[in-house]
Amino acid sequence: MKHLISITDLSVEEIDEILRLAERFKEDRYRNRITDYLRNRSLAMIFEYPSTRTRVSFEVAMADLGGHALYLSWNDLQLGRGETIRDTAKVLSRYVHGVMIRAKKHETIEEFARHSEVPVINGLSDFEHPCQVLSDLFTIKEYKGSFRNLTLTWVGDGNNVCNSLILASAMMGFRMVVSTPEGYEPDEDVIRRAREEFNGDIIIEKDPVRAVENADIIYTDVWISMGMEDERDRRLSDFREYQVNEMLVRKSKESVIVMHCLPAHRGEEITSGVLDSEQSVVIDQAENRLHVQKAILVRLLSDIEISELTE
Ligand code: CP
Ligand code: NVA
Repeated sequence: MKHLISITDLSVEEIDEILRLAERFKEDRYRNRITDYLRNRSLAMIFEYPSTRTRVSFEVAMADLGGHALYLSWNDLQLGRGETIRDTAKVLSRYVHGVMIRAKKHETIEEFARHSEVPVINGLSDFEHPCQVLSDLFTIKEYKGSFRNLTLTWVGDGNNVCNSLILASAMMGFRMVVSTPEGYEPDEDVIRRAREEFNGDIIIEKDPVRAVENADIIYTDVWISMGMEDERDRRLSDFREYQVNEMLVRKSKESVIVMHCLPAHRGEEITSGVLDSEQSVVIDQAENRLHVQKAILVRLLSDIEISELTE
């Protein structure tokens, strides 16, 4: 049994396989080709925070593949009244074939996985967002052809999405430049692992203008992630110089694309002008969550050999 809690729970070969299968699922969708690789399979989706993309893409992915997804809000479960994660994991394991969790704390997902008898998927924690980043890899490949010689510049908060992207860039072999205000750098251990374990080319560049100079991709995310609402005033002031706006994008390559995992806070980390520009790929990026979730689900919830589906 395999969990997907960190992007590093997958090998490079498994990531490649998922990206290839997602490509097939994207084609299937456009050609109206129906498959039922997850017939009679159920996925429980536990949400401690709200979600649009993760919830809908997982739910539709399960339905499209002939399976069933259950949306379970944390507070509607007995978890909200103090039932333990251990008991919940053990009981749900008898009902469903996989559990996706969006949790406030990364440790919650790790603990759930320790007691689960079915695969557990991280649908975002305060430390990583691996499904988002798998789908981002798909989008990058779609727009740039391959990962070879690419530079992705992250501008903004060194948060959960940034952590997963750092690890993914190191695994897939492209350079990542990270530009954050002082005190908002990504997790030190993540950077060390990316460099030491995966030979990652990770550059920390405080100055956002210098950071985007050679970027093929500019990526940003909200300054105030879920759970950080109390820090709003301080963050709005600390991140002032780190907005992805028309002036910053002009400092980069002409061919640069702009990515954002969404939801965006227009006028904060990104301007509407950039978000709605030709260079922005954010809507395709969001769409690709659906195709990639399908590949993740087939990889984790079925016994099908992916190589058989992508030949
Ligand atoms: N990008 C992402 O995970 O969006 P949601 O919060 O809408 O799921
Ligand atoms: N960093 C953001 C991502 C939302 C998809 C958050 O954690 O709120």
